[in-house]
Amino acid sequence: MLFGFAKGNDGSLVCAYMDHSTHQRYIEGDMRRLEEMLAQVAQSDAELQRKIVGGEDVQLLDLACGACDEAKTLARFFGGKESGAGDGRNMRFVGFDVRDREIADASARFENDPDADFEFIRGDATKLRDYRELPGAFDVIFMRHQNLWNGKRTWEEIYRNALEKLLPNGRLIITSYFDREHTQAIDAIKNQGGELLVTKANEISRELPTPGKSIDRHVAVLKRGEG
Ligand SMILES: C[S@@+](CC[C@H](N)C(=O)[O-])C[C@H]1O[C@@H](n2cnc3c(N)ncnc32)[C@H](O)[C@@H]1O
Repeated sequence: MLFGFAKGNDGSLVCAYMDHSTHQRYIEGDMRRLEEMLAQVAQSDAELQRKIVGGEDVQLLDLACGACDEAKTLARFFGGKESGAGDGRNMRFVGFDVRDREIADASARFENDPDADFEFIRGDATKLRDYRELPGAFDVIFMRHQNLWNGKRTWEEIYRNALEKLLPNGRLIITSYFDREHTQAIDAIKNQGGELLVTKANEISRELPTPGKSIDRHVAVLKRGEG
């Protein structure tokens, strides 16, 4: 039995116990909306669009991925399987998080999945350059629900390391739970040398019980600045 939230008769969010299949339906809905958001922001960024529909191999790092519910959705989207451009392309997907249990969970769920060459590493993203097993640079670095409010210094360091691990034409994509945190995260990434390309509010994101918090409430695409 899983603990979750549902809308009551008056529209307010109430605590509820959900079985596994109800929880799965929530996640599947979140993933459809995430994919839709990514398709929308890619329309505003020709390079991102090229990565999705072009014929080249893709290396994606999902930084602070937790249990990585988004793994398969991202692998299919960026590997071109959703757009039909994925034939013959290699999709390498590396999930990275500091928590043991979440990384073990993600490995068990995805490491044998055929949609990508999946690998999950437990580690500290503030020390990313110490992990020699990581590729030198990535086409896409994704950070879903980054957690800036929970340790500004830590996240500034993580943003800096993420920008350093991007190819010159690579893209850093973040999503946020809150409005203010999203703006602050963008500012923090710019302070570390990032350049904002597009940011978008998700009009259909799933509300959570904390006021002003919802799943993938905002998404932003950034790249390494010229300086
Ligand atoms: C809000 S959770 C998001 C998890 C997942 N991306 C999602 O959307 O469900 C933030 C994640 O950041 C990870 N994290 C925090 N500090 C980290 C660090 N120094 N290195 C790697 N991961 C870290 C946490 O373990 C947690 O999984």
